[in-house]
Amino acid sequence: MDDLDALESELTAAVREAGDMAALEAARVGALGKKGRLTRAMRELGAMTADERRTVAPRLNRLKQHLNEAVAARKRELEAARLEARLAVERVDVTLPARPETEGRIHPVSQVTDELVAIFADMGFTVAEGPDIEDDFHNFTALNIPPEHPARQMHDTFYFPEKADGSRMLLRTHTSPVQIRYMKTARPPIRIIVPGRTYRCDSDQTHTPMFHQVEGLVIDETTHMGHLKGCLEEFARAFFEVDGLRMRFRPSHFPFTEPSAEVDIGCTHAGDELRIGEGDDWLEILGCGMVHPRVLECVGLDPERYQGFAFGVGIDRIAMLKYGIPDLRAFFDADLRWLRHYGFVPLDVPTLAGGLSQ
Ligand code: DAH
Repeated sequence: MDDLDALESELTAAVREAGDMAALEAARVGALGKKGRLTRAMRELGAMTADERRTVAPRLNRLKQHLNEAVAARKRELEAARLEARLAVERVDVTLPARPETEGRIHPVSQVTDELVAIFADMGFTVAEGPDIEDDFHNFTALNIPPEHPARQMHDTFYFPEKADGSRMLLRTHTSPVQIRYMKTARPPIRIIVPGRTYRCDSDQTHTPMFHQVEGLVIDETTHMGHLKGCLEEFARAFFEVDGLRMRFRPSHFPFTEPSAEVDIGCTHAGDELRIGEGDDWLEILGCGMVHPRVLECVGLDPERYQGFAFGVGIDRIAMLKYGIPDLRAFFDADLRWLRHYGFVPLDVPTLAGGLSQ
């Protein structure tokens, strides 16, 4: 009997004290393996008298069960300890601020595009896209610019060679064709902005053959000119980050809007310096208007029921104004010194809450 007690305490101690999985397995095999001490003790039952067996056998069985339970319990403890140790080593402090990048800069066009997306997303707009290579229908005709319309000449369009059927593809001259593509597939209410590349055969200090625009389009059953004004005022104030920015809506003409307006912001020219928001001068920043009924008809929307507004802004132009960049052509020279000077730190993602441009 005493032998059995000693066996029990030795075997359970070996299991409990096993410091790792290998030691635990050794303790288990030492007790319960083919040649283990308990296995051997059980084998010896055969040599006992029936009386002895009746008292010893149940004890051995209980011991076997206890040992199995002890092994399983110790295994769980060791696994938990191993996980703890690993978590301690692999610990990452997610509250640490990111290290500011020293290399690489975000181009002002990308920065301003991100700023525009942040501002308009806050007003409930989503971002849509369309192809740079367009056909005549989407770039002109569907926007109420029929063949022979003078606006076609004004756009200095880049055309591709004529196809067999006499039609010519072109590089889109504005982002407005995406209005058409979007309205053909989505039903109102529509609230999108479309940032993207645009192309015109033109080059001087403020024009490059490739430039960027952002188009805006809102269509539903109740939107009116007041919403257009409110939306664009909110945009300009947020974008230029100037309190009390002065703005004016000046009547204008675009074939795809009626009525149409151009929007100017107040500024002063003091010598070389341009100050936005103050003074008696005006700078044009965008074109806009209520979507022309013919444009709505063209995409199968009933102009008696649906209405809305659209606008188009030159991204490069407002980037130059906001960040005081004098020459547009430098935007596309890929000069690293220029990019280091005018570029933005990658981790300063523009948000309305955190500031657009600090
Ligand atoms: N597409 C015009 C351009 O490139 C800009 C524009 C003006 C877009 C008025 C609009 C708008 O959506 O309503 O000159």
